[in-house]
Amino acid sequence: MIYTLEVTAILVSLGSVLWVELVRDFYHVLAHVWQPLYRLHLWHHRVFKPDLSLANETIYREANWYNDLPESLVMLVFSIAFASIVINQEILTAYQWSAWLGSVYSFSFTLGAIARGFGIPYADEITDVTHRPGDFQSLPAQWFVNRPYHWRHHFDNQNAYFCGTFTLVDKIIGTALSLKGKKIAVTGASGTLGKALLKQLHLQGAKVTALTSKPQNLSLEIDCQNLPIKTVTWRVGKESELASFFEKIDILIINHGVNVRAARNVKAIADSYQINAFSSWRLMELFLKTVRTNEDMVKKEIWVNTSEAEVNPAFSPLYELSKRTLGDLVALKRLDAPCVIRKLILGPFKSNLNPIGIMSAEWVARQIVNLALRDFRDIIVTINPLTYLAFPLKELLVPTYLKLFTNSNLLH
Ligand SMILES: NC(=O)c1ccc[n+]([C@@H]2O[C@H](COP(=O)([O-])OP(=O)(O)OC[C@H]3O[C@@H](n4cnc5c(N)ncnc54)[C@H](OP(=O)(O)O)[C@@H]3O)[C@@H](O)[C@H]2O)c1
Repeated sequence: MIYTLEVTAILVSLGSVLWVELVRDFYHVLAHVWQPLYRLHLWHHRVFKPDLSLANETIYREANWYNDLPESLVMLVFSIAFASIVINQEILTAYQWSAWLGSVYSFSFTLGAIARGFGIPYADEITDVTHRPGDFQSLPAQWFVNRPYHWRHHFDNQNAYFCGTFTLVDKIIGTALSLKGKKIAVTGASGTLGKALLKQLHLQGAKVTALTSKPQNLSLEIDCQNLPIKTVTWRVGKESELASFFEKIDILIINHGVNVRAARNVKAIADSYQINAFSSWRLMELFLKTVRTNEDMVKKEIWVNTSEAEVNPAFSPLYELSKRTLGDLVALKRLDAPCVIRKLILGPFKSNLNPIGIMSAEWVARQIVNLALRDFRDIIVTINPLTYLAFPLKELLVPTYLKLFTNSNLLH
């Protein structure tokens, strides 16, 4: 009984804090779409330089009065509404102190905004942690807003990355990653999924480049019209020729692949590993070398199409072996990667490589983009329910094993 009381008290406390954080984030979204609020919020966007140092001390103080203080007061009002509802529920009256936690929490932001507005020494350092200058020590976090996550709201796309503490609202409305204006290159571009992905990325406002292994110029079919796109030719084994091109690319999508099916001769083994695994690994290494600055760390990404063959049979052993190798190499690189690396774990879709696939490449491409906008790092799109169980388990065990038995500082 006591145990139930404690658990309920904790749930009500957490609920009251989550509630005010949701209020904060929706208030922020509103401030970007409703002109009267935007006029106040704009002060906040005038404050910082791209290294997050202050453009102007006076504007910083004003921004706290015009933006941060009203925001915290709105949280406070909604926290009082939450507590009032809870204490009026007969079964919850015993938890009124827990219900008021959201108000205490909101009031701490009110005090912080007032302290910063008056310019009290160190108030900004203690209370405004997502706006501190300095090198980024980590990648944008997935569930909690950290400096790298929030930097993108100011300097990547002000109409995305709205969240202040938890990233939930951005995940719900699809603003946890912005593809607008991003320079994105896709390998395997003339293939079925390659073309479908390029189209979806273009529709999201990305500037796409097709990376193809054949000498050809590719175009997208948009509204029954052909739109020529920048096309770059590359070859397996000659990945280093792409080094200077990668400097200008924000997101590299490694999507090329072959399926040798039942073949098991020397060429089938070499092609499977060279094309599916090792060329992808070389492209990854090359691209990661272009990540140098704070901006690169948060804007650059690699997406690798490994396939659900990582965890399920594809009735093509060399395809499975090479895709599992690729999946494990991605897991290894992720341990120290200076930018986000996403995996695409796809089930069977109809394509040149898999003529009997069940899903359509267009639908798969739309789901990939939808999940990426919600910052899924492992993007699973399949009709096979086992993959949703087996893959997360593999992603828990394999990286743990790799972390325990490898060391980034050791030379071999
Ligand atoms: N279809 C499925 O059921 C399924 C399921 C899970 C994962 N996948 C993966 O999805 C990706 C896209 O496959 P898809 O189904 O769209 O097949 P696809 O239509 O055959 O496209 C694959 C593309 O890979 C590129 N490629 C082939 N051989 C190459 C080589 N020797 N060197 C460099 N590039 C080469 C080609 O594009 P360019 O000519 O433009 O270079 C080719 O069009 C692959 O990685 C595949 O393993 C597919």
